[in-house]
Amino acid sequence: MFKPRVLSGVQPTGNLHLGNYLGAIRNWVPFQQTHECVYMLADLHAITVPQDPIKLRQSVRETAAALIACGINPNTSVIFPQSAVSAHAELAWVLSCLTPLGWLNRMTQFKDKAGKNKDNAGLGLYSYPVLMAADILTYHATHVPVGEDQKQHLELARDIAGAFNRAYGTEFFPLPEPMIMGEATRVMSLRDGKKKMSKSDESDYSRINLTDDADAIAQKFKKAKTDTIEGISWDAENRPEIANLITIYAALSDIKKEEVVQQFAGAQTSAFKSALTDLAVAKLSPITAKMRVLLEDVDSLDGILKNGAERANELAQPILKNAYNLVGFWRS
Ligand code: TRP
Repeated sequence: MFKPRVLSGVQPTGNLHLGNYLGAIRNWVPFQQTHECVYMLADLHAITVPQDPIKLRQSVRETAAALIACGINPNTSVIFPQSAVSAHAELAWVLSCLTPLGWLNRMTQFKDKAGKNKDNAGLGLYSYPVLMAADILTYHATHVPVGEDQKQHLELARDIAGAFNRAYGTEFFPLPEPMIMGEATRVMSLRDGKKKMSKSDESDYSRINLTDDADAIAQKFKKAKTDTIEGISWDAENRPEIANLITIYAALSDIKKEEVVQQFAGAQTSAFKSALTDLAVAKLSPITAKMRVLLEDVDSLDGILKNGAERANELAQPILKNAYNLVGFWRS
């Protein structure tokens, strides 16, 4: 049976948190039933900002362990470090020659990340979306699940695929479809309901890490910022913190937010928080345990990644070769 190919990537980071899990990783699992899945640890993208080499390599392991612990099956899905497959960088060069600066100048993520002093930003940070296009196109992937923040990059990837096809008079690259994961999965900081949960927030109380034990989870939800309004109600504008907790509860239990509100409408905030703690511990502790086991056996984990890289190479190399030949390059 033909299965369309999904590709997605996650930047390797230590300290994966509930936002990464509910917003990205978890959504990758069901595609394994219906699609051929290629999941990449995007370490080439990671060095667009400074990285410590030892930590970078370990972060790839941790992120891979998290993916596997969350239900990505490395025997069926292809899971690998981007840097182990040279086709990504090789195709990115060709695509960069077809991408007008004007297209890149529109990218809001670059503007955010580069800050005020654009002259100091690296070329890699600027061409980041071109590498992303190469990631997708070098597998002829047609479906790309990403968060809302990557939507603009995905649209650019479609434009770049079109630019290649036009330049070389071909339909070689299929235009990838973004599959945007809805706002339901946007997890906010536990200290500020208007800020995204982030590994770089200085307060560890702002996030639930995938490595937190039951006590830490309980402490963090207990201390989570709320408001003085009675009961549990959905009001994203005026009660952003409660809305965030409702969102988390709904996502973890796979029910609608309305149902959560119905269930807890008359409850005190403390009772809701304690139910949420129980739920989070029940859902996350098997993942944490599995991650720990995987990370204890580094050789096996590295073996999984090496095997994934070999399979990824087998998929990518013939496509790269064809693309290079279309360009008039030497590659047999
Ligand atoms: N830039 C993506 C992110 O930070 C990760 C990524 C890299 C990606 N390459 C990709 C996602 C290709 C989808 C397709 O979330």
